Amino acid sequence: MKIEEYGLQKLTDPLLDWFSQHARKLPWRTDASPYRVWVSEIMLQQTRVEAVKPFFERFINELPNVGALAECKEEKLLKLWEGLGYYNRVRNMQIAAKQVMEEYHGVIPDDYEELLKLKGIGHYTAGAIVSIAYGKPHPAVDGNVLRVLSRAAGDERDIMKPSVRSNMERQLEKIMPNGRAGAYNQALMELGATVCLPNGEPKCKECPWQEVCIAGKEGKTNLLPVKTRQAKRRIQKRTVFMIRDGEKVILRRRPGTGLLAGMYEFPNVTGHLNAEEAVSYVKEMHLTPLHVERLADAKHIFSHVEWHMAGYLIRVEELEEENQKLLFAETADFKDKYPMPSAFGAYMELLNVPFGKDRFQKEKSGSGYQNE
Ligand code: ADE
Ligand code: SF4
Repeated sequence: MKIEEYGLQKLTDPLLDWFSQHARKLPWRTDASPYRVWVSEIMLQQTRVEAVKPFFERFINELPNVGALAECKEEKLLKLWEGLGYYNRVRNMQIAAKQVMEEYHGVIPDDYEELLKLKGIGHYTAGAIVSIAYGKPHPAVDGNVLRVLSRAAGDERDIMKPSVRSNMERQLEKIMPNGRAGAYNQALMELGATVCLPNGEPKCKECPWQEVCIAGKEGKTNLLPVKTRQAKRRIQKRTVFMIRDGEKVILRRRPGTGLLAGMYEFPNVTGHLNAEEAVSYVKEMHLTPLHVERLADAKHIFSHVEWHMAGYLIRVEELEEENQKLLFAETADFKDKYPMPSAFGAYMELLNVPFGKDRFQKEKSGSGYQNE
């Protein structure tokens, strides 16, 4: 049935009681300042809680407030995000931080409509910030919330439709518990993340709604939510070149707009090249190949495209005058420089440099990263 016929009100008390027992202790919950909530919600948009944790701590340590975020150099900013993916999230966050500094005296607005004016902040993020950080009664509806509500109410409408989402938001607005909106929103998310799981079986026996949930009672959990599938991803073949002179490796910087804007990368081209073609490609860069090795294939999934990569390790002679303008990066410099997309993770591993989240964990252990 539609959510308005179901009566969401009966879900509230069991949900809040459950949450007070089962809420995970998360770094952005123990201190829920507007800035911390904002950063965490942006990180959590495409990434799971466990994966986000180390990134969050590091980001907040380096950029403890909106002003620091607004002023951060682009390369450092991307480096802090390296391994999280969807890098436009952090680029937009910096644009929004500059807006906050210039238009709101450095204070993140506590008004839902004002927040929506900031780059990268949509209904979900605005609702999360005003409810969790400022205690205002606004819903924050993400994919988790759509799933748990459509199951509980037995609502068979397509949750990919914006009209269904805004309808759910309106229904929630009516019942947001006074003074506990932040807990309520987080409880819905938490239930979706830990109990009412998306793939495979939800853990209905552990669910505070087991007595009132339509999908659970009628055995329809595998039919709900109804969700139209997104278009199939385009597959793109690419060849990736790790061109090395001793410890150095050639990098390029990607353009300032488009996919992976401003990130660094190993030179790469469309199509799968054979060894001979790969050697020609390197010669065209005015380099002299000494040794060619085929590397393992690798795959990376972006939202709309998949890269199927073939790789070559090519050792070259020392640089000559005419190729001085190529960027030969020292592997030791990857620690603080050269933000690299996760797409190249398989090839980064071969360089034995810390990459993505490994940069934090291995630093903490103090044992270096070479042997781990
Ligand atoms: N997913 C997105 N935001 C979340 C939050 N605040 N708590 C738990 N999971 C989340
Ligand atoms: Fe999800 Fe099962 Fe709980 Fe219903 S009873 S909300 S299907 S976990």
